[in-house]
Amino acid sequence: MRTPSRWTLRRRLVVVLVSLVAVVALGMGAVSALALRGSLVRQVDDQLHAANQRAVNAPAWARDPSTDGPGAIDRPSPGNRVPGQAAGTINLFRQGDEDAVRADYIDESGERQYLDDAQVDTLLAVPSDGEVHPVDLDPLGHYRAISTTTSSGATAVTALPTAAVTSTVTRFVVVELVVGVLALLAAAALGLLLVRRELRPLDRMAATATRVSKLPLDRGEVVLAERVAERDTDPATEVGQVGSALNELLGHVAEALTARHESESQVRQFVADASHELRTPLASIRGYAELVRRSPEVLPDGAVTAMGRIESEAARMTALVEDMLLLARLDAGRTLEAAPVDLGMLAIDAVGDAHAAGPDHEWLLDLPEVDEDDDGPLVLGDEHRLRQVFANLLTNARLHTPAGTTVTVQVRSVGTDVEVRVTDDGPGIPDELRDSLFQRFTRGDESRTRGTGSTGLGLAIVDAVVGAHDGRITAGAGPRGGTTFTVRLPAAART
Ligand SMILES: Nc1ncnc2c1ncn2[C@@H]1O[C@H](COP(=O)(O)OP(=O)(O)OP(=O)(O)O)[C@@H](O)[C@H]1O
Ligand SMILES: [Mg+2]
Repeated sequence: MRTPSRWTLRRRLVVVLVSLVAVVALGMGAVSALALRGSLVRQVDDQLHAANQRAVNAPAWARDPSTDGPGAIDRPSPGNRVPGQAAGTINLFRQGDEDAVRADYIDESGERQYLDDAQVDTLLAVPSDGEVHPVDLDPLGHYRAISTTTSSGATAVTALPTAAVTSTVTRFVVVELVVGVLALLAAAALGLLLVRRELRPLDRMAATATRVSKLPLDRGEVVLAERVAERDTDPATEVGQVGSALNELLGHVAEALTARHESESQVRQFVADASHELRTPLASIRGYAELVRRSPEVLPDGAVTAMGRIESEAARMTALVEDMLLLARLDAGRTLEAAPVDLGMLAIDAVGDAHAAGPDHEWLLDLPEVDEDDDGPLVLGDEHRLRQVFANLLTNARLHTPAGTTVTVQVRSVGTDVEVRVTDDGPGIPDELRDSLFQRFTRGDESRTRGTGSTGLGLAIVDAVVGAHDGRITAGAGPRGGTTFTVRLPAAART
């Protein structure tokens, strides 16, 4: 059972409501039962006073203990009875301090019944103060009794049973309990219905908030059209205030997202424009540098080397500018070509190139068996960009591992995907890079110092290209240490 603090609001409200109804019903029931009992007892007491008055004023023969009693000759009733008293009324008469005591009553069937000694003693013990006193006449039950001493010194005690009062009050309490339980059930059912109805707007708001939380808000242009429905935004109600506050919040977030997207687009456009503009002057620098380097005779000593450096740095800068331009375009969501591309063929070409560039490494290819007239693992995409994926991964495997490292390129079909794995048994990805591996300008220290011309854009481009093809790339440890890059791309449907 969960603790109340973890109950739903709905449950808590219903429990509070039902408890309140229960407390109020109990209170009302107790007060009215007590009041009923009080007034019934008062009625009995009034009757008792009257009955006692009659007993005192009754004719002498009706009061004389010697005329009646268990030993006396029984006269026909009501000859020796106090007239005007209800059945069950006990009368006790005693003349002065004499032992002769008469104590009897007429029962429901009209029979005269006599009290035993213990009962007589109990009645005689009632003080003669004209007040009503409760007495217990075992086994007859509870009675209200009043005792009066007449001017002649006689004692007349009258008692009335309270059984009727008790049974009436008991019946009343039972009825009240039954009605109370029914009222509680009704309150619970109605409360549940009502609370559920009142809280429905909150449910709808929660649903709206949940839908918003599932929207991809972190990148690109986001249309945040979700809003709480008009009917749930009435500021006159508390729930409506929450609804309208939520709508305001969503409005702000939508504005902020639009502003963010605009500024991102501007930056992206700026990078794209700048990269584009840099291409032409860079091409000129390279061209002129090459031209001058080709005529070494007109150059002073050392200038040839300097020109060579200018040329190579310009080439590096061109590559960097191309990378930045490509990333800016991919960021802008520029649609790529979507033609069938055989990844097996790309792998063969890429490994061939890598082998030429890094003869000190061992390059292995692992391709699926294909029939002569069948194609290899096909994906729909931009061949030029996919070649770049292979090139970047293989360049990394060549540049960031020592000579002699074995690099395996595997292409295979996995379900509806084509998987490309580039595995090396080199030193592995440095720990500090692991989390930001695919982010821009992430590169290992050693890549920076070695002067490999590394910029840290290679894997960011691979990630962006794979993403633009609806694929995924992950990096992990290879089977024998080293590094494995796994690229998954949706396979092209074969015709
Ligand atoms: N196969 C690998 N083995 C070990 N470390 C690697 C491997 N591939 C990448 N890395 C590490 O990840 C870093 C980021 O790689 P990334 O290709 O993004 O940039 P880069 O190679 O340094 O520069 P760029 O590719 O832009 O010329 C590298 O600097 C290197 O430290
Ligand atoms: Mg690289």
